[in-house]
Amino acid sequence: MVKIIVANDYEEMSKKAAAIIAAQVIYKADSILGLATGSSPIGIYDYLTKWYQEGSLDFSQITTVNLDEYRGIEKKNDQSYDYFMHHHFFDRVNVRPEKTFLPNGMAADVEEECARYQKLIDDLGGIDLQLLGIGHNGHIGFNEPGESLEANVHCVSLSEKTIEANKRFFASAEDVPKQAYTMGMRSIMEAKKIVIVANGEGKAEAIAKAFAGKITTKVPASLLQLHPDVTVVVDQAAASLLPSYMQ
Ligand code: GLP
Repeated sequence: MVKIIVANDYEEMSKKAAAIIAAQVIYKADSILGLATGSSPIGIYDYLTKWYQEGSLDFSQITTVNLDEYRGIEKKNDQSYDYFMHHHFFDRVNVRPEKTFLPNGMAADVEEECARYQKLIDDLGGIDLQLLGIGHNGHIGFNEPGESLEANVHCVSLSEKTIEANKRFFASAEDVPKQAYTMGMRSIMEAKKIVIVANGEGKAEAIAKAFAGKITTKVPASLLQLHPDVTVVVDQAAASLLPSYMQ
């Protein structure tokens, strides 16, 4: 079931989505959180950090598994998702470093890395809450639109649209890594609860296609319509192309 929450702006979207994650952490102190990167969730990490600093949240028993990582860039590169997570969240709260997991973008063997990360997720016994952003083309993690979608962790060649969208973080489009590791659709769909966030006009079409359109591999996020517990938290701009009864 998909529940849509329309917030006034980015700030309110971040606060509402963070509140769902905070509730999960309070309700189950040893939750497994599936985490996401990108500009959309930054405000969420800021709220979670604030509430931690105020003494309302404790992440000491939490385990985190991230959705994706670029292939071929070092952890210490400020564009790696590992760096992002440390900068925006891990280094600011009391999550235990040995309980935070991301794919290793520098692994020598791609197949081995996919198998390792998939086993790690499966051995954790499933994700309690998965946080997601959405790409302009409806991708989640780096599950790009296509004739079919991968079930398990895999290494993808990024679409032109994704490279274009992500180049703002790099010196030029040529510097954007061309491949990435990502969780597949199975681990995402197996998460007990999913929270997906989007803000701004640029995401309106993707949100409308994903949640008010056909379920199709051409819009990977549309598969979330089949999940029993999805909360979409969007600002008004990102909600603007949804039919009015959904807003
Ligand atoms: C990237 C990530 C996704 C993210 C998406 C949107 O490609 N792999 O996980 O959801 O872009 O990013 P942003 O929130 O910056 O728009």
